[in-house]
Amino acid sequence: MSATALPGLGDSLARLGTETAFSVLARAGELERLGRDVIHLEIGEPDYATPLHICEAAAEALRAGETHYCPAAGIPEFREAIAAFLSRTRGVDVNPENVLVGTGAKPFLFFTILATCNPGDEVIYPDPGFPIYESAIRWAGATPVSLPLLESRDFTFDLNDLADRLSPRTKLVVLNSPQNPTGGVISREVMAGAAELLAGGNAWVLSDEVYSQMLYDGEFASVVSHNGLLERTILLDGLSKTYAMTGWRCGFAAVPEPRVDPLVRFFVNSTSCVPPFVQLAGVAALTGPQDESQAMIEEFRVRRDLIVAGLNDLTRRLLSRAARRLLRIPQRLGGLDPRRAARRSPAPGSRRRHPRRQRVRRGRQEQPAAQLRKLAREPRACPRADADAPRAPVNERQEYVKRRRAPRPTRRVKWPNATGGR
Ligand SMILES: Cc1ncc(COP(=O)(O)O)c(C=O)c1O
Repeated sequence: MSATALPGLGDSLARLGTETAFSVLARAGELERLGRDVIHLEIGEPDYATPLHICEAAAEALRAGETHYCPAAGIPEFREAIAAFLSRTRGVDVNPENVLVGTGAKPFLFFTILATCNPGDEVIYPDPGFPIYESAIRWAGATPVSLPLLESRDFTFDLNDLADRLSPRTKLVVLNSPQNPTGGVISREVMAGAAELLAGGNAWVLSDEVYSQMLYDGEFASVVSHNGLLERTILLDGLSKTYAMTGWRCGFAAVPEPRVDPLVRFFVNSTSCVPPFVQLAGVAALTGPQDESQAMIEEFRVRRDLIVAGLNDLTRRLLSRAARRLLRIPQRLGGLDPRRAARRSPAPGSRRRHPRRQRVRRGRQEQPAAQLRKLAREPRACPRADADAPRAPVNERQEYVKRRRAPRPTRRVKWPNATGGR
């Protein structure tokens, strides 16, 4: 049998990015199946079970036969509950007819960009940011224009930077607060300034607010709370993060009227609808008790404080010891004053080697990255905060770690006799 060459991939695939956290998650799963202990820091999801009353609402809906197609825009009860939730939390009037339900928040990002942008259009997006923004912008053939998030501004942007990037070609501006991956939160003042700039232009806004309920300090501000912005903003939120429902695949958005039909058309062409039993669980999530979700978020705050304190302590210790050596290296190798470097560079055609290359070749100094790797392997180089405390024997410590990482007991939904089902 002769081997025939199969046709190649579509050209647009070369422009489609990915979210690498999913490949790392898959690899971690493989290692776990081999019995390895893995600490999951790769994917942004709560390590909590979905609150029981939400699971029970889904189970009830399944038993009641809510297992068929339903309207692509979402079932009316859920759209009403979402409209009430968004109106309450953003201080605006959201009409249920402007609410759409999707298989997670992600499809709204992708489909909004595809439904809005043509090649040559510019899209401003936060950088660093959730990778799907840039992937979708490039796939649509539009031009990504990155808006830098600055550490000096607690990882939000400078309004002048936003003003500089807005142009007649700007078709869409993506905002994300609280932000992934930095955790930055756009303050009320900066949001007001951004709203003013955006209200004066022609661009649509995609406000990704999936972390709206996960705020550890400060207050949440939405761009739609400002005059005239609800009419030009696709306001995105969902169940994944707030209610530990990442695997249920359910997100929602308040969408200006001209964008409702195009987005529904994308849903009809791709996913059809979100399963009705998932949407009924969503009604329970938004209208039911919030204490489990609140307790989870409080626990995240405690962990955040612990990690930040630990990292700051580690950095301080690193800086005060071995890293002091490390910091001198860029000065010696890469950080030469350009004029001095030019003086020391061999003249064109000369057989003298560049002093920097000589040094690296002779191996007198290692590159900073290599030194960092060495430091990471060298426990003495980064002492523990409680370095003076007596340490437990190794096997006792391992036992402790194993206990901490034991899989959560899965909550079982009780299945009564299937008499009540359809
Ligand atoms: C900023 C941001 N937007 C959207 C999403 C996607 O959320 P969902 O799982 O509901 O699709 C994520 C998930 O990590 C995110 O971090």
